[in-house]
Amino acid sequence: MQKPKTKILVDGGDPEETRHVKKLLGFVDGQTTNPSLIAKNPHIRQLIASGHKLNQSEEMAEYKRIVEAISPLVGSAGVSIEVFADESTTAQEMLSQGREMYRWIPNAYIKYPCTAEGLRAAQMSVKESIRVNMTLCFSQQQAAAVYAATKGTKEPVYVSPFVGRLDDIGQNGMDLVKNIKRMFSAGDGHVFVLAASIRSLEHLLDCFALETELATVPAKIIEAWAARGFPMPGKDFAYKSPARAMAYEALDLNQPWEKFDIEHELTRKGIEKFVADYRATLLAG
Ligand code: E4P
Repeated sequence: MQKPKTKILVDGGDPEETRHVKKLLGFVDGQTTNPSLIAKNPHIRQLIASGHKLNQSEEMAEYKRIVEAISPLVGSAGVSIEVFADESTTAQEMLSQGREMYRWIPNAYIKYPCTAEGLRAAQMSVKESIRVNMTLCFSQQQAAAVYAATKGTKEPVYVSPFVGRLDDIGQNGMDLVKNIKRMFSAGDGHVFVLAASIRSLEHLLDCFALETELATVPAKIIEAWAARGFPMPGKDFAYKSPARAMAYEALDLNQPWEKFDIEHELTRKGIEKFVADYRATLLAG
């Protein structure tokens, strides 16, 4: 298999699955996790099914155990660990969690949401040389704010546009990936685009065609790619989406991050879903 330029991360919460993908590909560059994926981890599901809900420190211990098992399996793109944040979690609270999670493994990236508090947490994190992955990104304005908030970082920063969830609301999520890459081509290169919420082989092939720096991919899409003999997009490859095109916005990356319009309904909904999935595993419910 010809290794793509795009780094491939496993989008999941189960070390066994990461091992399986590694066997299929011969390598895994990294891994992303989130509260929904951790709630689906087989051991956590088994505990819940047997009536054992977790308290918060047990949940953290489980999350740590999972990423410790994944950490040595992956390459230089690291393991993204997401803080538990609802709409009232402050930047300082996110940072405290981020600091602790960052110590769990040597190759951690801390995931904060693309909200004002998440951006503040990222700004403070990069000053402490904590690598960050800004998640739930649905607009170019949010990606520009990530760029501005993390300027001067010594560590790489990821921003994760969520392709499939934009497709779900009838907008072409791959356009967002393309637009962010175009916008960042005028920048200093400190933020890398990590295409997330990949739902089809076509999404993955378009990531390769766009030379997206990183893509996080569920095991079943890797399996579909393997079953087809690991095709790569040829010169004639054209990604077709029935969804509405997302227009490119000319934004000035040198503005302070607070100047960008970072509100997005899907970011709010995404936080609600992560919180609900996380709470479903907890004692208090
Ligand atoms: C990874 O970082 C994201 O959390 C994940 O790709 C989201 O995927 P989904 O939209 O399919 O839940």
